[in-house]
Amino acid sequence: MNVIGGFFEEENLNDNKNGFPFLEDQTYSNGRSALYEILQICQPTKIFLPAYTCDAVLEPILKLQIPYSFVEINNQMEFVALPDLKSSEVLLGINYFGLKGTYLKEISTQLGTNLIIDNSQAFYSSNWNTWAFNSLRKYFGVPDGSILYTPDGSTPKRTHSYNLPKIEHLKLRKNGAIDLGYKLYKESEKEQAISDKKMSNYSSEVLQHLNLKSIRQRRIENFNYLVNALSKWNQLDLSINIKHDVPLCYPFWPKNPIPHAKFWNHGIYVPVFWKECLKRGAKYKFESVLSAELIPLPVDHRYDEEEMNRMIEFISIQ
Ligand SMILES: Cc1ncc(COP(=O)(O)O)c(C=O)c1O
Repeated sequence: MNVIGGFFEEENLNDNKNGFPFLEDQTYSNGRSALYEILQICQPTKIFLPAYTCDAVLEPILKLQIPYSFVEINNQMEFVALPDLKSSEVLLGINYFGLKGTYLKEISTQLGTNLIIDNSQAFYSSNWNTWAFNSLRKYFGVPDGSILYTPDGSTPKRTHSYNLPKIEHLKLRKNGAIDLGYKLYKESEKEQAISDKKMSNYSSEVLQHLNLKSIRQRRIENFNYLVNALSKWNQLDLSINIKHDVPLCYPFWPKNPIPHAKFWNHGIYVPVFWKECLKRGAKYKFESVLSAELIPLPVDHRYDEEEMNRMIEFISIQ
């Protein structure tokens, strides 16, 4: 049985360039490095961020010793209340599962450049005229890469060298060696760190030779297929605005929790977003429950109805 989900494999490339616009000087090796750069430029006196996030986001904040506070979110994946920001303070808004473009657009009109948008889960979304960054390896079979967007579209001139990430895990998965590939994938994830290097030439080439339109379409179709089948059991009701949302996954929060390990044992590799939330304190109950019970079902371009049906069948017998 073919497994579904988990780390990506090497991509099949188109002969033609897709014309996706970005400049090398805009690129960083990963999302945390782009956030580090944004914070260095903005020099906020404090940053507010949702408690439902991974520790990687905290790395640049801790490195720059910026005071921070967590903010609660609700079951629409929106802030319970926006913090009352001073002009020198910023809020990090996460585009959860690539589905919160409309909400971030809305709050960007209130907060302007005091909002930093984390599009790590939303490659296709806009920066809404404020600071934003993404993380390419969350969407595609690449080992690194993040694009930083500035409010006025300007790009600092950088003379830094290019990142040289490991790519063996992508090749191994492509050749069916999933177990060894997974081991190397985990090692490459551990090596992700804040760096001033530009995105590797490898990722840059791949990004320019993907069919971004068909990848977008496949994700949306798979997502809608799962919505039709699973929304009756889902406590999260996140709709998609196809004007600017392209889902990372289908976030499934079943009324009767199903352990992640049950999916893994059945060859459905769903990630855990994010077990570090369990240590954020009793105040963040919703965030800890979500991190334990949310099942991010894969909808990416490797899959179509066949795999969606397999996941639906598995869930319906739980
Ligand atoms: C919401 C979110 N923001 C930022 C990051 C950091 O991205 P990267 O791993 O590319 O540094 C991650 C992932 O680790 C993430 O899940």
